[in-house]
Amino acid sequence: MPDTDKLPSKVYGWLDERLGLTEIVALAGHKRVPEHKHSFWYYWGGITLFFFIVMCFTGVLLLLYYRPGEEAYESVRMITYEIHFGWLIRSTHSWAANLMVASAFVHMFSTYFMKAYRKPREFLWWSGLGLLSLAMLFGFSGYLLPMDELAFFATKVGLAIPGTIPVVGPWISDLVRGGPEISAYTISRFFALHVVILPALFIPLLMFHLALVQKHGMSIPESEEAKPESERKSIPFFPNFAMKDLAMWLIALNVLALLAAVFPWSLGPAADPLKPAPADIHPEWYFMTSFQILKIFGAWFPGAVGEFLGLASFNLGVVLWAIVPLFDPTSKSGKWGVRATYFGMFMLAAILVTTIWGYAVLPATP
Ligand code: HEM
Repeated sequence: MPDTDKLPSKVYGWLDERLGLTEIVALAGHKRVPEHKHSFWYYWGGITLFFFIVMCFTGVLLLLYYRPGEEAYESVRMITYEIHFGWLIRSTHSWAANLMVASAFVHMFSTYFMKAYRKPREFLWWSGLGLLSLAMLFGFSGYLLPMDELAFFATKVGLAIPGTIPVVGPWISDLVRGGPEISAYTISRFFALHVVILPALFIPLLMFHLALVQKHGMSIPESEEAKPESERKSIPFFPNFAMKDLAMWLIALNVLALLAAVFPWSLGPAADPLKPAPADIHPEWYFMTSFQILKIFGAWFPGAVGEFLGLASFNLGVVLWAIVPLFDPTSKSGKWGVRATYFGMFMLAAILVTTIWGYAVLPATP
């Protein structure tokens, strides 16, 4: 009879010899996570990561039945109404995508107000902005794939935004659409973007982001920096913080399961380009700010001038947001630190106000 008590340690020993597990565990245990009254915000990067993992897993399952091109709508109808638990996988995928973008926004603003973008974490900030942009593109490209009425018209509205860029705008829109109108070619292009190009960009950028977190460790807010080192508290990343992270993932999973099961993702009628667009058509909530800014400027300055000014002010906001680490590089930077905090408040308020405003002025569904 083999000695089964010793089996786990024998397996561990066998793996350790080949993979150096003890060194990896020691490295993780070496890393410490600061503990203070703002520690709650440290979980949001991990929560975003969790939703991304769920998206990959459920996305692969959807690929088993989804067919891009002319049959796109029919295949999603089959997933939703005929395949066992197909509706649940689809609903989980769509909810996870929305929750991922939402938690990435929470993570971005929390790292912003904790000033985690400061030296030497500038590249964490920039890679994070890249990840958020890619996450939004994941959402935009995925939205069209079912090719139902809402997806069709919302994508039409969405593609009108890059179309307003002077000179190259219409060319970009045509390239993305695969012609002057949304068609089966557009679905093929969006599908390639959604399952090949975006993952190929997102995953290496995510690895870079996480490697930088490993290199620099977690930043501490200014209130902690003011304390002498002996008074600062911290816990080992492994196993203490990792277990807390896991508990957060469990809560995130519960929220996701509840939303996906209680509010299943709907599928409208098949898109009919000859029908007029529904009155309340609008892009996904995370594009509402850009949509609303374009609308406001369009109302103030009719024609191309309004489009240009709307696009210019939106892009100016994005560029300023990206270069904040250069203006507020260290915690001893005094007035720039305070200005950056006010700028963060302004940006948060601008996003909230334009999003709520955008929804408030939508015409009611007939
Ligand atoms: C969209 C996908 C993203 C994923 C999966 C992700 C993941 C993570 C993880 C796991 C951490 C370490 C724990 C934490 O602070 O929460 C982290 C840290 C960080 N992330 Fe992200 N992140 C993403 C997007 C962003 C965005 C949009 C920004 C800002 C523009 C950003 C900026 C940062 C910064 C500055 C840190 C360092 C925090 C510190 O040192 O206190 N990340 N990220």
